[in-house]
Amino acid sequence: MGSLHVLEHPLLQHKLSILRDKDTGVKEFREIVGEISALMCYEATRSLPTKEVEVETPIAKAKVRVLAGKKMAIVPILRAGLGMVDSMINLVPSAKVGHIGLYRDPKTHEPVEYYCKMPPDISERQVFIVDPMLATGGSASAAIQILKEKYGCKNITLMDIIAAPEGVAVIRAEHPDVDIFVAAVDEKLNENAYIVPGLGDAGDRIFGTK
Ligand code: PRP
Ligand code: URA
Repeated sequence: MGSLHVLEHPLLQHKLSILRDKDTGVKEFREIVGEISALMCYEATRSLPTKEVEVETPIAKAKVRVLAGKKMAIVPILRAGLGMVDSMINLVPSAKVGHIGLYRDPKTHEPVEYYCKMPPDISERQVFIVDPMLATGGSASAAIQILKEKYGCKNITLMDIIAAPEGVAVIRAEHPDVDIFVAAVDEKLNENAYIVPGLGDAGDRIFGTK
């Protein structure tokens, strides 16, 4: 059974306040998305299994712990999820990366799939889906569904920077096995299904398309 983890670390909250500010420019926005992703990755990987091995330090033999068991895959939801990938790979260089392209239809707000490419052994990996925004939950739920049904993934974690309560409820209802890590759960969605107060359009702010 998965659960919702709201990460309230002061560093995360401080950086998130900069993302929310409408006057934060593209360069700083992109850098801070990367910094937040690294901090969130640190928390979200807390329960990865480790095993004991022996290494020889310049002084003596030492029993140490290294990552064991399932390998990781990072799956950004395009476009905005791309902004979270580099800093996570820096922390876990052995992780493979799969991509899911989904955009929200501007009228229905339903996700539309336009791209999907996964590492061949993705079903054996612990998958971290990353996307800055969990709004209606439609995109994340569709991504999880694709990973489960088309690729046979069994261990999926969802990492979003900001969530709306509506999106959290959808994932909890449709994918109760999935752990959700967020830095904030905001108040609500507006009539355009944007998160209030949120940070605006994450993809546009990362890539400077508006
Ligand atoms: C944004 C965001 C999520 C999705 C969240 O992407 O990055 O993928 O919306 O909304 P939902 O929970 O209601 O599905 P968008 O569709 O704007 O595409 P983009 O990343 O290409 O800008
Ligand atoms: N997508 C975004 O980028 N922002 C929102 O608030 C909702 C969906």
